Amino acid sequence: MEHNLQLLAFFLFFLLLGSMAAPASRRAKDRRPCRRLVFYFHDIVYNGKNSKNATSAIVGAPAWANRTAMAGQNHFGDMVVFDDPITLDNNLHSTPVGRAQGFYLYDKKDVFTAWLGFSFVFNSTQHKGSLNFAGADPLMNKTRDVSVIGGTGDFFMARGIATLMTDAFEGEVYFRLRVDIKLYECW
Ligand SMILES: *[C@@H]1O[C@H](CO)[C@@H](O)[C@H](O)[C@H]1NC(C)=O
Ligand SMILES: *[C@@H]1O[C@H](CO)[C@@H](O)[C@H](O)[C@H]1NC(C)=O
Ligand SMILES: *[C@@H]1O[C@H](CO)[C@@H](O)[C@H](O)[C@H]1NC(C)=O
Ligand SMILES: *[C@@H]1O[C@H](CO)[C@@H](O)[C@H](O)[C@H]1NC(C)=O
Repeated sequence: MEHNLQLLAFFLFFLLLGSMAAPASRRAKDRRPCRRLVFYFHDIVYNGKNSKNATSAIVGAPAWANRTAMAGQNHFGDMVVFDDPITLDNNLHSTPVGRAQGFYLYDKKDVFTAWLGFSFVFNSTQHKGSLNFAGADPLMNKTRDVSVIGGTGDFFMARGIATLMTDAFEGEVYFRLRVDIKLYECW
């Protein structure tokens, strides 16, 4: 009996040790999202001619450029503020379920790359509340992961990862992003 208890204690000790030593990468892989959502958002950048249509505007540009056209050298130094419609499919004219609101700024001269900080603000029958996103957006990658750093309302305390994909890109005026949201913390 005593022998069996010793064996059990020995076994539990190694079980505990094993779980503590599991590398973070394995732990992340073992976890499945508690919630998954896919949306599209549409950005129409003001270009001097489309003030009715535009959903975003260059609000900051380097001294060698202006706020009507994107700067040279991979748009380095441009900062854009947006209020873009979010749709469930890839059609700009579908009924929006919310707005993507925030900014992006181009932060590398020799590669096309940006930094994103924005919220999805929902006020529809499906979703009420917001999700907040932040992170580096290396635009040349087919997919990029940014952090979902929090949420409110239906997304109270949410955290996870959003995989972004450029679904369409038309000149310097229109682009559409597919956002595949995987939440790993749901309340
Ligand atoms: C409105 O936006 C779309 C975005 O793709 C663009 O194709 C169209 O030319 C714009 N219209 C005007 C009047 O700027
Ligand atoms: C802004 O810069 C672009 C080129 O970078 C130029 O073609 C355009 O004329 C400029 N617009 C204004 C209003 O200065
Ligand atoms: C959300 O939508 C409802 C109904 O259309 C409206 O009364 C309310 O003001 C909206 N709230 C926000 C924060 O936009
Ligand atoms: C970009 O893509 C490369 C190659 O596919 C990958 O190694 C890298 O981790 C990606 N970067 C980001 C930030 O997603």
